[in-house]
Amino acid sequence: MDANILVIAGDGVGPEVTAQGLKALKVLAKRERMRLALDEAPMGGAAYDLTGSPLPDATLAKARAATAILFGAVGGPKWEKLPFAVRPEAGLLKLRRALELYANLRPAKVFDAVADASTLKREVVAGTDIMVVRELTGGLYFGEPRGIRDEGGRRIGVNTMVYDDLEIERIVRMGFKIAAGRRKRLLSVEKANALEVSQLWREVATGLAGEYPDVALTHMYVDNAAMQLVRAPRQIDTLVTENLFGDILSDEAAMLTGSIGLLPSASLGERHALYEPIHGSAPDIAGRDLANPLATILSVGMMFRYTFGKPAVDERVHRAVTGVLERYRTADIMSAGKTQVGCAEMGDLLAAALEAQP
Ligand code: IPM
Ligand code: MG
Repeated sequence: MDANILVIAGDGVGPEVTAQGLKALKVLAKRERMRLALDEAPMGGAAYDLTGSPLPDATLAKARAATAILFGAVGGPKWEKLPFAVRPEAGLLKLRRALELYANLRPAKVFDAVADASTLKREVVAGTDIMVVRELTGGLYFGEPRGIRDEGGRRIGVNTMVYDDLEIERIVRMGFKIAAGRRKRLLSVEKANALEVSQLWREVATGLAGEYPDVALTHMYVDNAAMQLVRAPRQIDTLVTENLFGDILSDEAAMLTGSIGLLPSASLGERHALYEPIHGSAPDIAGRDLANPLATILSVGMMFRYTFGKPAVDERVHRAVTGVLERYRTADIMSAGKTQVGCAEMGDLLAAALEAQP
């Protein structure tokens, strides 16, 4: 076998969209003459219902053994009242940490055909093509001390934003490498005017710039970056930032594109990789064939680029998506004069478009 792919469909619309991603994956693998071994494993609420854990040991073991993971989504109202440690989201955070998936790549590219679907004006968002490189295994999400404690009759909640220089270095290097393959501009986002951890971030980033002379490094405070994203998004090419800032800014960047249903992601470490649409489990439309599978299919494209080293295949996926969007839309991006299709039909259209490519 050339690659061993683990499918973690998860909850909500996860199973529907990963099924469509798999259709595309199979077509592409065949064309590339790659033999894939496919396996599945439960996670999130579905896994909690089966085993009492959102990330069963057997799933983690399969994840460690996989060449890449195709991930759907986890979470839903059914599991919202569970203790934090067994909630579906806790399973996802544990998986990221266990596999050391420290670099989360979230491209926010505006497909011209759907630029009108954005809540922002077309002239502001058209042509936007941003890559958010979010640190994923450190910062406030994982820092110690953390918790809620009682002290002198008061309750105190604590989380800690902590990074060491090596953690900063590896994610900023990833930013430089990604930027080098794009428009050679790297924007490092932090809050160095208020936080020591951000001062260290800026120092480390600045120190690395000399090793990447063809990439122009600039810095921005996170509040300004949040503003510039909606004011003039085309000025930003590759943006590297810490975990929580990246969580927030990547959702903001997503809204530039019109629909979160179009946004893929890759979570990369030295040894493992996970590909995931960023829209989440969307329980309100789950099981109704309404979800947009394009984010998952674009995530499969990212798998070819980053795990299989075949960027041309990723570009083929983008061309197929652009072509299909000319006539067909899922409900989230429907507009007058187009034909509305469900999740499965959109998956079939994409698979057919990929098959038909010269
Ligand atoms: C994301 C999500 C997760 C995060 C949640 C579900 C814990 O918002 O992948 O962006 O905050 O990382
Ligand atoms: Mg988020």
